[in-house]
Amino acid sequence: MARLIIVSNRVAPISEGGPAAGGLAVGVYDALKETGGMWFGWSGEILGAGQPMLTVTQRGPVTFATIGLTRRDYDQYYRGFSNATLWPTLHYRSDLTEYDRSDFDGYRRVNAWLAARLVPLLEPDDIVWVHDYHLIPFAEALRLAGVRNRLGFFLHTPFPAAQVLTTVPPHAELVRALTCYDVVGVQTAPDLRALVDYIVCEAGGTVTHDGRVDAFGRTLQIGAFPIGIYPDEIASLAASGSEDDVVHAMRDTMGARKLIISVDRLDYSKGLLERFRAFETLLEHSPAQRQQVTFMQIAPPTRADLHAYQAMRSKLESEAGRINGRFGELHWTPIRYIHRQYDRAVLASVFRAAAVGYVTPLRDGMNLVAKEYVAAQDPDDPGVLVLSRFAGAAQQMHGALIVNPIDRVGMAEALDRALSMPRDERRSRYRDMMKMLRDENVSVWRDDFLRALRGEAWPLPETA
Ligand code: G6P
Repeated sequence: MARLIIVSNRVAPISEGGPAAGGLAVGVYDALKETGGMWFGWSGEILGAGQPMLTVTQRGPVTFATIGLTRRDYDQYYRGFSNATLWPTLHYRSDLTEYDRSDFDGYRRVNAWLAARLVPLLEPDDIVWVHDYHLIPFAEALRLAGVRNRLGFFLHTPFPAAQVLTTVPPHAELVRALTCYDVVGVQTAPDLRALVDYIVCEAGGTVTHDGRVDAFGRTLQIGAFPIGIYPDEIASLAASGSEDDVVHAMRDTMGARKLIISVDRLDYSKGLLERFRAFETLLEHSPAQRQQVTFMQIAPPTRADLHAYQAMRSKLESEAGRINGRFGELHWTPIRYIHRQYDRAVLASVFRAAAVGYVTPLRDGMNLVAKEYVAAQDPDDPGVLVLSRFAGAAQQMHGALIVNPIDRVGMAEALDRALSMPRDERRSRYRDMMKMLRDENVSVWRDDFLRALRGEAWPLPETA
């Protein structure tokens, strides 16, 4: 079988036991081991001086090829156009979008430069699967360099409505660059509808009911491929990690109180402020819950050199302090707000110990925390997932209590209902969601995408 080449901005760290992170890394690493192949991307380093050099390391049948970025490339490509322009727009936050034409030039320049580093490593039969919004023009650059391999692209974030995407000045260049791929995948049916709408209404292209696109003089296949997890692996991590000292210590501090858990990168798309305030409303409206429940928000900081992230962080810190000051007691802190990162096994056990998974982004491509929270539950006495309708996961997780994060009282009511839900109802919701998680696990995601990329049929999504 042809080699698989994965290209992503960050290359997941792989330890002896496999990938340290979940999602993408777990899903594609299996395929890389099976067919042999390469993972290519940024090393995460910003170079002070000198020319970036490609570092190639071999781990069994998988090659890792990574390269550093100069400060200027990092500023324009990663911090600038990817994260100050594209990220907020893709998450419907045009109010936070900054645009600087020189950053866009840098974004295209770095894409072309990275593509040129990959070209000599490619073999004619390789299939190339590029991931996420940092690398939209990557295929265009490969094509210009004469590469004829099959090229696929998967967008992990939402694909926004055309009216939102068009606020980015070079929107047409971006979508034209997307059409240089043979297959473009998005997470959900609403994302796919938005992409189709752009192609038809903005680009004057055509899309057939089974996702064949004709636009900008090119033809390609598009589809929705919701990313999943390996639920049984999370379940066994959750069960075994419960013996971990940190988890024991946490449980001891909880006593008989119920735990509401949230885990997110500290990002404005995650709706943390709305979530904190809805928890405050729960304490206000349901005095019986006071002292009976603790809300733990684990939020490792990310992209801390961007103003929008710094502003949000200080706002959240003051809100957590205010709410704790208002309701806290000598023996009880309502919100525990933690900026550390924990490993997957610890998180899985914390999920299992939590009566409620509180996953309420304002926008999210998929949100694998929602899936991992459910997979980590004790089948006999599972917790309840409270999930934002704006997470891609809400399209699949019908056993969750679906909320609108803007509706503070509605969220507080959902928390109250989750905290007092009878065990039978919790079990039946859990069983439905576990079945879906198993049926649509991460290898289904990967294999469906790769089948489409190899030009084979796969179960076609609805595009209309
Ligand atoms: C999101 C993006 C990923 C990205 C991750 C971490 O999940 O979809 O592409 O790798 O955030 O963000 P960072 O900026 O730290 O790479």
